[in-house]
Amino acid sequence: MKVHLLIVLLLVSNITLSSGVLDVFAAAVSVVYKFFQRDDLLPFDFKRLEKDLKDSLFGQHIVSDVVLKAVTSFMNDSNPNKPLVLSFHGTTGVGKNHVAKIIARNVYKKGIQSKHIHTYISEHHFPHRTKLDLYSAQLKQWIHGNVSSFPRSMFIFDEMDKMQPQLIDVIKPFLDYNARVDGVSFHNAIFIFLSNAGGNVIAEVALDFWREGKDREELWMNSKELETKILQNIFNNKNSGFLHSSIIDHHLVDHYIPFLPLELKHVRQCVMAEMLHLNMTQDYDLADRVARNLPFFPEEEKIFAVKGCKSVRQKLVLYVD
Ligand SMILES: Nc1ncnc2c1ncn2[C@@H]1O[C@H](COP(=O)(O)OP(=O)(O)OP(=O)(O)O)[C@@H](O)[C@H]1O
Ligand SMILES: *[C@@H]1O[C@H](CO)[C@@H](O)[C@H](O)[C@H]1NC(C)=O
Ligand SMILES: *[C@@H]1O[C@H](CO)[C@@H](O)[C@H](O)[C@H]1NC(C)=O
Ligand SMILES: *[C@@H]1O[C@H](CO)[C@@H](O)[C@H](O)[C@H]1NC(C)=O
Ligand SMILES: [Mg+2]
Repeated sequence: MKVHLLIVLLLVSNITLSSGVLDVFAAAVSVVYKFFQRDDLLPFDFKRLEKDLKDSLFGQHIVSDVVLKAVTSFMNDSNPNKPLVLSFHGTTGVGKNHVAKIIARNVYKKGIQSKHIHTYISEHHFPHRTKLDLYSAQLKQWIHGNVSSFPRSMFIFDEMDKMQPQLIDVIKPFLDYNARVDGVSFHNAIFIFLSNAGGNVIAEVALDFWREGKDREELWMNSKELETKILQNIFNNKNSGFLHSSIIDHHLVDHYIPFLPLELKHVRQCVMAEMLHLNMTQDYDLADRVARNLPFFPEEEKIFAVKGCKSVRQKLVLYVD
């Protein structure tokens, strides 16, 4: 806004200023303008990502750990042998899009607003089965075109469970080791898949753990073979999108990351975070009331929030007078 104003001022003052001064001034303005318009990479700082995850992600110790390690080692590798491919799994509202955003704001100056991030939502971008061939051709061209002009591009596939296997297989060549398609290398790209597939298996494991009286934080990727269970579940589930997809066959996903269902205390943290976001003074008792009034499962013990932290903001505003 300010920059635009400056340009207008410059044009108006054209008559009075000598042209030499004007040129220098215009050049300076253009540099400033470009600076504000830039959509670059942020120098990667794992401390910053670590702090961001610690401060803004609640109840997902497995996610924090795996994402931090995977993203850090990838960003710190000047010559990776394949793109970073992460698959997020969990029931609704547990933070899958939220974590994709956190990664984005630690990679790009403009965060999730960066034009280097391409988000595809299955039912929105690829709704008609009859147009699968067209979608396949488009998607192939988009990924190829974007990575050739900006190697560190990020692709987020939301609702992966609703995506046609044919489309998933289009992505496959781009994910592979030493992938080069028509002379373009994809090794610096980041692919993130989001889905509810496997969410129920994860919730069951978390519930078993709770019933055995164990601490949630003791649950890890390899405990109860969590990652293997997710994999089997999404591979054999006809609603997972991944069904017998060659992405799984070829081991192209670096990590299948389980998002645990959220407990009351995590939802309360989400409400507290929303209060900050809405510039309200943080009120623990109010946060507790808002959180407690959300639905929890299973019917009997009521441990996990049915919708995670989803619609917490909408509920919160109902309590504010
Ligand atoms: N674990 C969490 N920590 C902090 N905030 C969270 C967490 N989970 C969810 N939220 C908050 O709730 C909102 C909704 O979560 P998000 O969109 O990430 O859910 P999701 O896992 O993608 O769900 P869905 O499967 O329905 O798409 C987020 O914008 C974020 O503000
Ligand atoms: C990044 O890589 C360099 C070597 O290239 C290594 O010394 C450093 O410890 C790495 N940093 C992190 C955070 O992994
Ligand atoms: C990049 O992808 C978008 C869709 O996400 C597409 O509209 C655009 O044409 C692509 N750019 C190139 C250069 O292919
Ligand atoms: C909160 O305050 C900041 C600065 O005081 C402002 O930029 C922001 O828009 C406000 N947010 C809301 C939701 O009112
Ligand atoms: Mg989501």
